[in-house]
Amino acid sequence: MMKQTTLAVLLACAALGAQAQAQTQDRPWFDKSKSADERARAAVAAMTLDEKLLLIVSYTGKEDVRKESDDIVPPSVKADVAAHEIKGSAGYVPGIARLGIPAQWQNDASIGVRVSGMERTALPSSLATAASFDPAVPEAGGRMIADEARASGFNTFLAGGANLAREPRNGRNFEYTGEDPLLAGRMTAGLVNGIQSRHMVSTMKHYAVNDQESQRTTVDVTISPAAMRQSDLLAFEILNDLARPGSVMCSYNLVNGRWACENEYLLNKTLKQDWKFKGYVMADWGAVHSTGDAANYGLDQFTGYPCCNHHGPFYSAKHFKKALADGDVAMRRLDDMAQRILWPLFQTGAFDDPPPVGKIDKVKINFSANAAVSQKAAEESLVLLKNEKNLLPLANVKSVAVIGGHADKGVLAGGGSSGVTPVGGNAVPDIEPKKWPGPVVYMPSSPLAALKAELPKAKVAYASGADIEVAVALAKQSEVAVVFVAQWLGEGFDGRLELEGNQDALVSAVARANPKTVVVVESGGAILMPWLDQVPAVLEAFYPGIRGAQAIARILTGKVNPSGHLPISFPASNAQLAHAEIPGFGKPDGIPVHITYHEGAAIGYKWYDVKGYKPLFAFGHGLSYTNFAVLDPKADVAKGSLTVGAALRNTGKLAGKGVVQVYVAPADLKASGWEAPKRLVAFQKLDLQPGAGNAFTQAVDPRLLATYEVADNSWRVRAGTYRVLFGQAADDLPVSVDVTLPDMTWSAVHKD
Ligand code: BGC
Repeated sequence: MMKQTTLAVLLACAALGAQAQAQTQDRPWFDKSKSADERARAAVAAMTLDEKLLLIVSYTGKEDVRKESDDIVPPSVKADVAAHEIKGSAGYVPGIARLGIPAQWQNDASIGVRVSGMERTALPSSLATAASFDPAVPEAGGRMIADEARASGFNTFLAGGANLAREPRNGRNFEYTGEDPLLAGRMTAGLVNGIQSRHMVSTMKHYAVNDQESQRTTVDVTISPAAMRQSDLLAFEILNDLARPGSVMCSYNLVNGRWACENEYLLNKTLKQDWKFKGYVMADWGAVHSTGDAANYGLDQFTGYPCCNHHGPFYSAKHFKKALADGDVAMRRLDDMAQRILWPLFQTGAFDDPPPVGKIDKVKINFSANAAVSQKAAEESLVLLKNEKNLLPLANVKSVAVIGGHADKGVLAGGGSSGVTPVGGNAVPDIEPKKWPGPVVYMPSSPLAALKAELPKAKVAYASGADIEVAVALAKQSEVAVVFVAQWLGEGFDGRLELEGNQDALVSAVARANPKTVVVVESGGAILMPWLDQVPAVLEAFYPGIRGAQAIARILTGKVNPSGHLPISFPASNAQLAHAEIPGFGKPDGIPVHITYHEGAAIGYKWYDVKGYKPLFAFGHGLSYTNFAVLDPKADVAKGSLTVGAALRNTGKLAGKGVVQVYVAPADLKASGWEAPKRLVAFQKLDLQPGAGNAFTQAVDPRLLATYEVADNSWRVRAGTYRVLFGQAADDLPVSVDVTLPDMTWSAVHKD
């Protein structure tokens, strides 16, 4: 009996095997033993013209699609979109059932899954997790949101924001990972690696030099190729090397007079030829301006049609067929586009391991486990900026006044397409704007409740701060005052460094009333702190996610030792900014404006170094409740390659995590050709018990020591003495080692 069953199973397996073999013979793109290139090529070879054209348009808005004329959106596509569009998905690319090619469900998911009306887990902002200085933190976040996205039926992520915080007032800096190309590249790569490890395709975005939101669809940015390659583009290049995102989202703006989505230099030359990018370029929603130019200069997929595209349906089958017939676009370019769009589906495993499609209402997600991932990320990331006389951590306090920032209800999140409807709903739903780029969302994670939970013996009371006198009275009666201030930023607008409303006055008044005042800042980026000298302690919480309050309370009370470091410099005044005004600031979008990035690659701390400015808080700054010493600095040059290393010792009494930062400074700045006196070349976070030490070594990416040479498309290190500086912030580099680097030049074209 047993034997018969085994035989039956074997026969069934053999039959299935034969079936699978026949299937892979007919459809070689199902053959997992083949490379992603081979599979994509085979699938494209089997496609009709209309099938290829299906892949190059992504639709948004079922109703809008229905209203389009049939020659622009064929009835079969309308029916497909109507039947399949997942509520809240940003884009939908119909599948090709005849060939078993899956549909693409594209959804925004930088900090969590955005699916309209559905509650999902929100991580801290990307800028916050960059402050962890540990790529494992965004990587864990990426895995978590990928699992939630899979459960919702999505397979393509609009994530991986890596624009540098060139403009500190940029409304989307919270979606990005700071001002330094190495930090931004490594931290965003963490997120993309986490996402793609779960068999999903991720973009990196917004490519490129999309560093202001004011007039984002019309601003023309002038910047030299060398400066770009050493700054904004280097962040994307490092990210691409480390995570191989399947897609790149080109941005709205123009770069050197050409739209980013039809910019030959950015797309064909840099991304596809030099970096050997094999995936596809998708446009930001509405960023396409032509058919022939866009296709020929590197755009592969037209997205956001028709909801967001006001310029025209340039990649519709009708327009594209005409471009092919007129000879404006070659058929082999269309084949390349289709091949590129399919490649990441095979490369990441999204083709072989598809999510269950359309099960959105029956999704089972372990929200409490996922919230724990978010809380851990916040606990690794919040930055203790100031802590005089060891006011923090709060221990044995009898009474605490919690003031301002809606701290009785929740913690702030950023606005726009990265916004997530939090589990538990918006804690403060009545703030304007309620519509795009709103709603203003407060995660339902109450600092007041969290502090009460962490300090069960203390009397913890709240004042909203609307009435400064009431807040002052509460602060006077309390042993400690914790004032929450908030700066809401979002997509489509830039902010100011000044806090809005009465917040600065509130902090000053409370600080005068109670010398033990702690300020907790929930911000999208840097802010000015005119009251800084008046307060002994400041915690930068960014937008800290669904368990932000718990993380804040645990850090304030010492359950968690803070270990975040600033991924951006905080300017001391507006006068320190590279650009006094943001062109088109505060005006409705659509006015053609121009900006020249005269600072070139000298962004953030590099700009401060060039100008000799002292920022309010330096890049890399972050305090701990213990102390660390950086010891044993090492820097070796072998065959022209620099390797650096150091040890970190916990010299205090508490366990904690420290971050060693390594910068390089040329002895002769002018001769080096560098844009600024120093560059970050390595960083390492280390977890240490009191008294313990640990060492690390890292090979330095040679591009971080080089200049980009336009004339022959190469990287070049100029021979000379370079000082390798070790420490814990850009303005705290106490130990150093000198090295001599030889002259070196190598091609900017990547090896296969
Ligand atoms: C944003 C993108 C986003 C897209 C789809 C655009 O407005 O700039 O970041 O992925 O919308 O929602």
